[in-house]
Amino acid sequence: MKKPVALLFAFILAVSLAACGNGPSDAGLNAQTDGSAADSETTAPAAPDTTPDAGAEDGGILIAYFSWSGNTETLAGIIQTETGGDLFAIEPETPYTDDYNALLDQAQQEQADQARPALAARVENWAQYDTIFVGYPIWWGDAPMIVLSFLESYDCSGKTIIPFCTSGGGGFGASVDSVTNSAAGAEILDGFHVNGSGAARAGEDVAAWIDGLGL
Ligand SMILES: Cc1cc2nc3c(=O)[nH]c(=O)nc-3n(C[C@H](O)[C@H](O)[C@H](O)COP(=O)(O)O)c2cc1C
Repeated sequence: MKKPVALLFAFILAVSLAACGNGPSDAGLNAQTDGSAADSETTAPAAPDTTPDAGAEDGGILIAYFSWSGNTETLAGIIQTETGGDLFAIEPETPYTDDYNALLDQAQQEQADQARPALAARVENWAQYDTIFVGYPIWWGDAPMIVLSFLESYDCSGKTIIPFCTSGGGGFGASVDSVTNSAAGAEILDGFHVNGSGAARAGEDVAAWIDGLGL
């Protein structure tokens, strides 16, 4: 006799709670009388929605380059067009001389000293870039020391670094080894080289190279 009464009481209690609390009938009323309130309720579980947006900021592509006479800058622009990445010009705090012959001496001396010239500016939001193209002219068979200053001034671990360069006739020389040593912890992918005089016409070759990288 007692069990059916208890069940009946539990049923009545459940029905009355649904009628006067935040039950489905209240939600339905809000939807009819106040659309905005209903919208905010339906989008309330915001955490899963915001996570992809935050993630979209990561995985960016940066094209950082040093160029003294413009050839590598031209190549960097082509890579930017192909990838949609952000461009950053690596510049020394104290500009290099405009005099070609004096520059030959200065570059050679910096290399002999394994100098690390100071940089004029830093990349903002380095953490948002996973893939960094690093471009430079070949100076005395190697990357200019300012490029090594650049790489060593950031945490490159976990990054993908892709070298590209222009030169007067030679190839990468020792520069890929130098880049690898200065970008500790990074994965180094196959780079791209073109003679400086051909940089402006490298579009098709650049596109094929970037396709092959599988980014
Ligand atoms: C200081 C200096 C050293 C250079 N050393 C080399 C070299 O060792 N091998 C080479 O093929 N070209 C060499 N070049 C030529 C440049 O690599 C070439 O002109 C390059 O395209 C210049 O790029 P930029 O216009 O971006 O500065 C040198 C040029 C300079 C100014």
